[in-house]
Amino acid sequence: MNNTEQFVNRHNGPSTQDVQAMLKKINAPSLDALIDQTVPAAIRLKKPLDLPDGMSEHAFLQHLRGVAAKNKLYKSYIGLGYYDTVVPPVIQRNVLENPGWYTAYTPYQAEIAQGRLEALLNFQTMIIDLTGMEIANASLLDEATAAAEAMTMLHGLRSREAAEQGKNSFFVSNECFPQTIELLKTRARPLGIELVIGDFRAVTLNDKLYGALLQYPTADGAVHDYADFVKRAKAHGMTIAVAADILSLVLLTPPGEWGADVVLGSTQRFGVPMGYGGPHAAYFACRDAHKRSMPGRIIGVSVDADGNPALRMALQTREQHIRREKATSNICTAQALLAIMASMYAVYHGAKGLRGIAGHVHQSAVALAGELKKLGYTLAGGVFFDTLKLMHTDNVKIHALAEAARINFRYTGDGLSISLDQTTSVDDLNAILAVFAQAAGKTAPTLAAVQISAQTLLAKPRSSAILSHPVFNSYHSETEMMRYIKRLENKDLSLTHSMISLGSCTMKLNAASEMLALTWPAFANLHPFVPLEQAEGYQEVIEGLNSALTEITGFAQMSFQPNSGASGEYAGLLVIQAYHRSRGEEQRNVVLIPASAHGTNPASAAMCGMNIVVVKCDSKGNIDVDDLRAKAEEHKADLSCLMVTYPSTHGVYEESIKDITAIIHANGGQVYMDGANMNAQVGLTSPGNIGADVCHLNLHKTFAIPHGGGGPGAGPIGVAAHLAPFLPSHPLVKVGGAQGIHAVSAAPYGSALILLISYGYIKMMGGKGLTEATRMAILNANYIKESLKDHYPTLYSGANGRCAHEMILNCIPFKRDAGIEVADIAKRLMDFGFHAPTTSFPVVDTLMVEPTESESKAELDRFCEAMIAIRGEIDQVLLGKADKKDNILKHAPHTARAVVADSWMRPYSREQAAFPLPWVRDNKFWPSVARVDNVYGDKNLICSCPPISSYI
Ligand SMILES: Cc1ncc(COP(=O)(O)O)c(C=O)c1O
Repeated sequence: MNNTEQFVNRHNGPSTQDVQAMLKKINAPSLDALIDQTVPAAIRLKKPLDLPDGMSEHAFLQHLRGVAAKNKLYKSYIGLGYYDTVVPPVIQRNVLENPGWYTAYTPYQAEIAQGRLEALLNFQTMIIDLTGMEIANASLLDEATAAAEAMTMLHGLRSREAAEQGKNSFFVSNECFPQTIELLKTRARPLGIELVIGDFRAVTLNDKLYGALLQYPTADGAVHDYADFVKRAKAHGMTIAVAADILSLVLLTPPGEWGADVVLGSTQRFGVPMGYGGPHAAYFACRDAHKRSMPGRIIGVSVDADGNPALRMALQTREQHIRREKATSNICTAQALLAIMASMYAVYHGAKGLRGIAGHVHQSAVALAGELKKLGYTLAGGVFFDTLKLMHTDNVKIHALAEAARINFRYTGDGLSISLDQTTSVDDLNAILAVFAQAAGKTAPTLAAVQISAQTLLAKPRSSAILSHPVFNSYHSETEMMRYIKRLENKDLSLTHSMISLGSCTMKLNAASEMLALTWPAFANLHPFVPLEQAEGYQEVIEGLNSALTEITGFAQMSFQPNSGASGEYAGLLVIQAYHRSRGEEQRNVVLIPASAHGTNPASAAMCGMNIVVVKCDSKGNIDVDDLRAKAEEHKADLSCLMVTYPSTHGVYEESIKDITAIIHANGGQVYMDGANMNAQVGLTSPGNIGADVCHLNLHKTFAIPHGGGGPGAGPIGVAAHLAPFLPSHPLVKVGGAQGIHAVSAAPYGSALILLISYGYIKMMGGKGLTEATRMAILNANYIKESLKDHYPTLYSGANGRCAHEMILNCIPFKRDAGIEVADIAKRLMDFGFHAPTTSFPVVDTLMVEPTESESKAELDRFCEAMIAIRGEIDQVLLGKADKKDNILKHAPHTARAVVADSWMRPYSREQAAFPLPWVRDNKFWPSVARVDNVYGDKNLICSCPPISSYI
């Protein structure tokens, strides 16, 4: 086979010659020798990964077409939060299939992220409009977890008095989606919240209830008037959360107008494929008064250093998980790309277009209802939007006929329901009617299109306006839309421009061949609750991924339910709790967490109601083993587990890891490994091998799923055999262990669609290729470490002076001696066309660099050259040659607008500002705004699109 046909050679950046030159630079005799010097012998795998050789890209795509053909694409009218939708091709091609959008990172560096920030602000504006609420965030993981976040947030908002009086129960309407009810059970238990699940019309409200969740329309499609319930609930001091269908809100009076405190739901049906469960963006809106308690990220409007409007993540430091054990939510990665798609759908259709779509869906349902009644079927009474509930149907008969017609309905104990969607055509309605006519032994009626459009709306249309902002009224032709999307894309720096060396984030290649199948209908259009026989292709992918990942992790079984790393942490900890409980050791509830851990670790533990004990790190950044031992022994009777990241967030393979895991086990605890750094393990060592019992994998790091500008993510967990019985279950699809914990996500396999990416990555890399990638990631990191050593010393190194796949660059002296902060370096890097490394995590005033295996030597050299040039600029300040405040770093980044302005008052030239190195000229990336003022934005919080006049 031709060398370049091997995918590994496309995935890994350095060529054979590069590797030799790099080894020479770092003074390592060979790659094998480097790995021996870096990864402690005690933890090395004894044999290579038992995975097949990699397939070529062409062969893989052939294979995947065969797999896709095993999925059976029926028309699904199952509903429950998942509906077929038309992805506008202009959005499919220019956002979903465009690396300019999907390879971007979370917009922490606002100056080079104004495009996606604007798209997310549009999302928030759309949600505020449709729900009738005051503030919205920029997406959560799915509707069911969003409902759980609402329950928790409202719990946290109780007055101290109410909490002391034991106001601790939460009412959940039994007409909510079953997966939502399940999630509430999962989340309520560890926090001691008591759920009261029942009929909202009949429940006796009491003073123990602090809040309620209602579904609008309900799982069976009923559009209830909740006014009376809300009035009664408020009289008892309760707060109200409403899970609402986004499309129905175009026509229905929004919950914000009838008393809701939180409104949440899924935006999937706004042009995001069902994908057998996800990824899709959930939305979450609340009253302005609650904004500081809201989970997830909020985009806000601020100004830049030149006084121009600029967007950024508002209340950034309040991202809940940053509050560690005091956090009430662990959301980190959310669903940015999918929120962007949904917002673009609203931009493209505008209010009029959405009214047309919602009207079509509703009128189709009305027409269908009329014909079904004529056929003799009994419909549940009341107002509906898109879902019809048929009572007391002969489900055995109808199921068989529907199956033959390749149609899925939702069958329940008392009948069945039919949920229509944007794609439902008159032919589809006639096919449905044919099934019911045959079941009733009658002649099928034939509807005509005009009959459907002539139906009057049963649901009383909302009177308030929606989407009146110009952004939703300007881009309705494809040309305008294409240009709008491109205009935003052009403001954002992504992997299409240069390397993004964010430590702990693993911004590696997301290969086109891994992404192609995402829009194949056989994968994109499957409803998550179809019978397994219709999803054999997906089952093959999931099983294939399960067996590859268990081999890679050294574990017995995976669960693909968690939708992010943080969600995996939560699931893993619950599994550990369930294990202890099964052994009669429920009291084991102490979790040891090293000081260096990522904020989501303590946040997840807090959500599990665990007692967090922090373990010290020594001066080399390693876990202080003596402190760990002392604390483990002190808590011998109530130790639940240790949460440990490996290699550590300090970028070293701790030699003592096996001792550490042994200490935990000796004291009756389990070991949870945070798999964020798995890119330094694959094929060389494994979580199972170092003694972990459970770990999550960030497939959106190590296994090639793109970051999508802040999501999607996939955080499956792997467990050792003794924990497998406790893996998460699901109320509608049989998954998980025999004693599985309740579900942790709305869909049984989480974001199943994007599992295809990791599946492709593993299939094409093969066992050897995956291991080679790990080796190359270590080489690239050590090459940067060596290249920068005289300019930015690395804070921590392993026993032989090597770093793992990432390193922490010490910038502490620059701040101390010259007032230059890591933020200044981060902003200055933008002038060179680079995204900053991770700033101030896990050590303040440092930069954490992770180049990944996908970057070539040429790119690493460019990055190092930029960093060295910046060091020269820092030296100017250190030596007193440049002013501490009025210097090129403090004024960075430099916009085209500033550089071409008639006046230039800076103590350095325009050339130095914009083209600091010769090669910058060839590929200049212009930050679209100057340094964004975070403080101003937080003081003047605006989280929806400001009027256009304010931009002029
Ligand atoms: C070490 C570590 N743990 C956990 C997480 C959380 O993962 P996610 O963002 O997928 O929730 C991150 C995210 O960057 C991380 O770096």
